[in-house]
Amino acid sequence: MKIFLLFLLMSSTFFAQNKTIVQRADSVLALMTLEEKVGQLVQYSGDWATGAAQGRPAETSDELLKQGKIGSFLNVVSSEKTMKLQRIAVEQSRLKIPLLFGLDVIHGYFSTFPVPIGEASSWNPSLIEKSARMQAIEASSAGINWTFNPMVDIARDPRWGRIVEGSGEDPYLGSLMAVARVKGYQGDDLSAHNTILACAKHFAAYGGAEGGRDYNTVDLSERNLRDYYLPPFKAAIEAGVGSLMASFNEIGGVPASACKFLMTDILRGEWKSDAFVVSDWNSIGELIPHGVAKDRKQAAELGIKATVDMDMETSAYFYHLAELVKEGNVDIKFVDDAVRRVLIAKFKLGLFDDPYKYSNVEREKKTIKSKEIVDATREVAQETLVLLKNEKNTLPLSKSLKSIALIGPLVKSKDDPLGGWSALGDSSDVVSVYEGLTKKIGKNIKINYAKGCSFLDNDKSGFADAIKAANESQVVIAFVGEHRGMSAEASSRAKLDLPGVQEDLIKELKKTGKPIVVVLMNGRPLTITWLQENVDAIIEAWYPGISAGFVIADVLFGDVNPSGKLPVTFPRYVGQVPIYYNHKNTGRPYNPKDRFTSYYMDLENTPLYPFGFGLSYTTFEYSNPVLSKSSIKKDEALTVTVDVKNTGKLEGKEVVQLYIRDLVGSVTRPVKELKDFAKINLKPGESKRVTFTITPEKLKFYDLNMNYVVEPGDFKVFIGTNSVDVKESSFTVVE
Ligand code: BGC
Repeated sequence: MKIFLLFLLMSSTFFAQNKTIVQRADSVLALMTLEEKVGQLVQYSGDWATGAAQGRPAETSDELLKQGKIGSFLNVVSSEKTMKLQRIAVEQSRLKIPLLFGLDVIHGYFSTFPVPIGEASSWNPSLIEKSARMQAIEASSAGINWTFNPMVDIARDPRWGRIVEGSGEDPYLGSLMAVARVKGYQGDDLSAHNTILACAKHFAAYGGAEGGRDYNTVDLSERNLRDYYLPPFKAAIEAGVGSLMASFNEIGGVPASACKFLMTDILRGEWKSDAFVVSDWNSIGELIPHGVAKDRKQAAELGIKATVDMDMETSAYFYHLAELVKEGNVDIKFVDDAVRRVLIAKFKLGLFDDPYKYSNVEREKKTIKSKEIVDATREVAQETLVLLKNEKNTLPLSKSLKSIALIGPLVKSKDDPLGGWSALGDSSDVVSVYEGLTKKIGKNIKINYAKGCSFLDNDKSGFADAIKAANESQVVIAFVGEHRGMSAEASSRAKLDLPGVQEDLIKELKKTGKPIVVVLMNGRPLTITWLQENVDAIIEAWYPGISAGFVIADVLFGDVNPSGKLPVTFPRYVGQVPIYYNHKNTGRPYNPKDRFTSYYMDLENTPLYPFGFGLSYTTFEYSNPVLSKSSIKKDEALTVTVDVKNTGKLEGKEVVQLYIRDLVGSVTRPVKELKDFAKINLKPGESKRVTFTITPEKLKFYDLNMNYVVEPGDFKVFIGTNSVDVKESSFTVVE
C-alpha cells in the first residue's frame, strides 16, 4: 500500500510539473467509474457515526470511503479525526482521491473574532483580510481545508437573523469585504498548508426573504438581483473564490438549488467560473417541499442539471445520480463537469500532492489559540465598535472616577460575546465585560455590579439591586442587547426592540439622574429610539469575540478611539423595514408640504441612524470636494479631492465616504450609491488630503436593455462622514 501511495504522490508531482490543473483533474476523471464520480459529489456531516440525519445509507462512513462514495465531510474537526478519515480515503479506496473537510469558520475557529457585521463596521478591508488569514491559519492546523465563508448576502431587513453573518446592506462595501475574506482564507497560494478554500454563500438573494423570515420566498426583479445582490458574489469570483454555496430560498418561483439561470447562465456562462457549487444543508432535498420535485430522485436530477455540484447531506446524489445517468435522464456530461470542478479544487489545495498536510497534530497544538491569533482578535475588534451617541462628551470616561455601575445581562456573560456561528469558540476564552473592566480600572475605581434582568423574561426582581448600584456610582454603564442565539440562522424576529424588560430597566436607571452609557451587543439593527432620545452615550459593540471585555474597556476609557461606521441602516420602528440608504427617489419623493408624497402618516421617513454613521471622540471637518474635471467622456475618469481635518483633541480614525447619484438614466437609479471610501488616521489638528478616482466602472449600471454601461448625463458626487452628512458637487458625462 505504501509503495502505491509513494507512486501516486510521485506521479502527481510529475503531473504537477507537466500538466495544468484541468488536465490533472481530467486524468483522474478518466480513471473513474460512474459510482466513484458520484462519490466525489457527496458530502456528509461528521456526526455520521451517531446516525443523526435521516435517509443516510446503512453502511458506515468507513465502508463508503473505501468504496470511494464520499468526497467530502463537514463538521469533522481536529487533526486526529480528519487524518483518520483521510487515511481511509487515500490508502484504502481504489483511486485514493483525498477528501475535503469543510466547516463554518465564519469568524474564527477556536479564537473568535467579531461577528461579520461587526467586522464590516470597521470599513477596513485589510484588517478583515488579516482576520480571515488568522482564521485560516488556525482552522487549517486542525485538518480543515474548506470554510463555508464568506457569507456575502446583502441584507436590508434586520428582522432576518442572518444579517449578522454578512456585511450589511451595501453591494460595494459587501464586495470589498467579500474580496478581503477570500484573499485572507485562500492567501496567495491555495496549496500552502495554512490556506483554505473559501465559499461565497448563499447563492443567491437569500437575504431578500419576504418579511425577513428565514428560508422564506424571495421574489425580485433581475435588475434588483444584479444591482444589489450579485455584486459581492461576482467580486468573490474575481478574487478567485474556490467554491459557492447554493441558497435555501426560491427566487421568483425557482429554488436556488435548481436554478439554471443563476448557476449555469450567470456563474458558469457570464462569469466563466470553475468554482464548484455545494448545496446548502439538505437544500437539494428541500426541492421536494418547495414543490418542484416529487421525490429525491427528481430533486437530484434538478440539482445536477442546474450545476449544483456537491450534495450536502441530502443523499439525493448518493442514491439516484448514477441511476439517472444510466437511464439516460441525466447526461454524463453534467456529472463529469461537476466532478472535474471538485477535483480542480482538490488539486488547487495541493491535496493530491500531500493529502495529510492539513492534519498535523504538532502544528495544531502550536497554532490553536496562539498569541498571534488571539492578539489579532483584539486588534480587529478595536475597529468594529460604533459610537452612536455621545452627548456632552460623556465618553470617554475619566480614569479618575471613583465608582461606576455595571448593569445588565451582558456584564458577566462569557458566552454571548462569541456571537453565533462561533465554530469551536469556547466561552472560557472570552474576556467578559466585567473581567475586562476589572482588569483595566478595578484597582482604582469601585465597580458596583448588578445584573438587573435577563434578556427575555419579564422578571423585574433584579431592578432594585440595579438601582441601588446606580445610586452608589458616579456613572451607569448598561450592557444590554440580544443573547447570541437571537441573531443567527432560524432566528428571525418580528420585533426589533430590546427584548424582555431591558429598556424598562434603563428607564428606571435614568430616574437616578446619573449619566447613562449604553453598550449594546446584538447582531442586527435594533429600534432603540427611546435610548437615543434619553441616554447620554451609546456604543454598538455587536458581538466582539473573545477579546470583548478588553476592547470595550479600551473604548469606554479612551485608550481606543472608536472608528466603526454602520454597514446597515437602523430604523426607528420596525414598520419602516426594509429601509436602506440606496433607495430610489420614487415619482413622489417626500415633501412635507404635500400630503400626496411617499411617507408614513405616523412616522418620519428618516432612519434612526443612517448607513455609514458612526461618531468619534474627536471631530472632523471636511472641505468642499474639488473635481479634476466638470465634464468627462464615457470612457474617461475624474478625481475628487477633499481635505479632512481633525478638529478635536484626540487622535482618531475617520472613514471618508464617497457617494454618487446618476440623475437621469434609462432606468431609475438610487438616490445615493457608495462608490469608494478611505479610512485615515489623523492626529489632533492634522489635515489629510484624500483623492478618489471615479472610473467608468463606477458609473456603470444595467440600462433599460440590461447592458452594463455608462450613460451620458449629469451626476452628483457626495463626500462625507456618513451617507447623510455630506458635501456635494457635480459633473457631466458626455458621449
Ligand atoms: C447554513 C449554511 C452552513 C451549512 C453547514 C446551513 O444550515 O445555511 O450557511 O454553511 O448549514 O453548516
